[in-house]
Amino acid sequence: MSNYHIKHLEEYYQIYRKSIREPENFWEEIAEEHFLWRKKWNNVLSWDFSKPEIKWFEGAELNITENCLDRHLATRGDKTAILFEPNNPDETSEHISYRQLYERVNQMAHVLKNQGVKKGDRVCIYVPMIPELAVSILACARIGAIHSVVFAGFSSKALSTRINDSDCKLVITADGSYRGDKTIDLKGIVDEALNDCDSVKSVLVIKRIHSEITMKAGRDFWLQPLLDNAPKDGKAEIMKAEDPLFILYTSGSTGKPKGMVHTTAGYMVYTAYTFKNVFQYKENDVYWCTADIGWITGHSYIVYGPLCNGATTVMFEGVPSYPDFGRFWDIVQKYKITQFYTAPTAIRALAKQGTELIEQYDLSSLKVLGSVGEPINEEAWHWYNDNVGKRKSPIIDSWWQTETGGIMITPLPYVTPTKPTYATLPFIGVQPCIMDENGEELKGNQVDGRLCIKFPWPSIARTIWGNHQRYKDTYFSAYKNMYFTGDGALRDEVGYYRITGRVDDVIIVSGHNLGTAPIEDAINEHPAVSESAIVGFPHDIKGNALYGYVTLKESGESRDHTNLRKEINQIITEHVGPIAKLDKIQFTAGLPKTRSGKIMRRILRKIAEKDTSNLGDISTLLNPECVQDIIDEAL
Ligand code: PRX
Repeated sequence: MSNYHIKHLEEYYQIYRKSIREPENFWEEIAEEHFLWRKKWNNVLSWDFSKPEIKWFEGAELNITENCLDRHLATRGDKTAILFEPNNPDETSEHISYRQLYERVNQMAHVLKNQGVKKGDRVCIYVPMIPELAVSILACARIGAIHSVVFAGFSSKALSTRINDSDCKLVITADGSYRGDKTIDLKGIVDEALNDCDSVKSVLVIKRIHSEITMKAGRDFWLQPLLDNAPKDGKAEIMKAEDPLFILYTSGSTGKPKGMVHTTAGYMVYTAYTFKNVFQYKENDVYWCTADIGWITGHSYIVYGPLCNGATTVMFEGVPSYPDFGRFWDIVQKYKITQFYTAPTAIRALAKQGTELIEQYDLSSLKVLGSVGEPINEEAWHWYNDNVGKRKSPIIDSWWQTETGGIMITPLPYVTPTKPTYATLPFIGVQPCIMDENGEELKGNQVDGRLCIKFPWPSIARTIWGNHQRYKDTYFSAYKNMYFTGDGALRDEVGYYRITGRVDDVIIVSGHNLGTAPIEDAINEHPAVSESAIVGFPHDIKGNALYGYVTLKESGESRDHTNLRKEINQIITEHVGPIAKLDKIQFTAGLPKTRSGKIMRRILRKIAEKDTSNLGDISTLLNPECVQDIIDEAL
């Protein structure tokens, strides 16, 4: 039996029990046998959730890129590492071998060094889904710089907030990006963001769409000429196990985004090990995760996890609807994709198209289907199972978070029997539990409450950049000695977990986490707006859509509401990004508040969901009279 590759359910249970009984021995064995270390650890794990402080493989030295690249050169040098499929299907795809990737990463590493980037410096990567994005990430890791990838669909304000929060020294971007039949002026967005960012000394620009852009002398450099002059070989910086590898921002329910910090050794071991098992990856498989690398899914399961396993990983620049809704299936057929990992929102959008298109493609290469990012509803699960997997490919409903670094609760394909809408069983080493609102653990099966994790796993985020107190308050204060996920979950009669959704003010729209506070702050900047509150309501494709309740200052009340709605969405687009636009905006005279002045979102949520039969006791509100008005005028 190999602990590294789990093939049967009994093996899963056996290995799981071992990983819980002797976590240190277990992870030490995995780390020892399957990775390249410059120096082994002195201590496998030390942890204290009350501080919180978590350290894995302390004393070890390594470079993650030697695990992703160097060690494959002898056996897999010519194997395709990254298979790039451009936005436009008529443009030639790129097959980048492990050797070519190694060379490109080294060249990029030299360029970064020549720009003065040193170990520990932060580099912001604002690049679309083109190979240079993966190359930039790996080049940072190669020289020990901390990468902070910002999704290239975010606005200039969102970008500058993230650059400033971690004082990035350099930005890598492109002249622009393709998105279906549109282009996006990325460099223009960067220029605007940098008006507010003093820490940035240089900008490296990739030529992608060949648009006219302005280059600021002394600050902006075209990347290609610099790469052309750089050597294709180079030494990797030796990193300590707990040195930060990257920062990735995620929305919180309040305040500015949280820069989750992931460190090197534990993250590497866990993402590689989960990748191998959750996708049952075999040597000649062609694996495709449709996520953008701007999110954690792309970091862990397009870049690091697959490359650590010497896999072939597909990077797709485009969107599922371009040139038509058959695009995903065309790619599956073209590359004979074996594992396909996507989000429920994409499945719902594709299901809406019916089955005519999908039937034109040969999907017989598929062995494993994955889902991630939000709860998958039963209808979407069955559509996926029937039409994509033809009832032969197990669906891996994988639950995890930016903060967890890797997949936490999931079936293993061909190992764990699946059940629609259930993420099923904890991954090896993961100890979930369900808590009630009073801090008591709900033991046994058939319980419903809040999902926590009792014991550290190797890829848990170690802190929030620059704000350890917030890390403690957000994740380790709700329940003593536990990591609180912010999600609700139930455990069924056989011990399978089902994630029921967020229990805080984070709303997941099309798989993107959106905190209500930054959107409300943006709306409140409109001169006519007095106050606002955002809630989610169910949406066929996006899972949730946003419903905004807005009160106007007196001077704004006479304004044309259609125009105001447009202006509000425009402000949101500028401050947060187009993904946060509101589907519905209701102007109202007042918002229901508690006597301490807190907006009662629970009531607003019910009204948005058109479920006003049981609003609970509203008599204790400061202004109960406004509730009926809001119901009467609801959209
Ligand atoms: O609410 C859960 C939901 O997505 C949140 C994490 O979002 P993010 O940090 O952006 O990471 C997404 C990709 C890992 C979780 O707190 N979520 C994620 N996967 C699932 C899910 N909800 C239900 N089922 C899932 N499989």
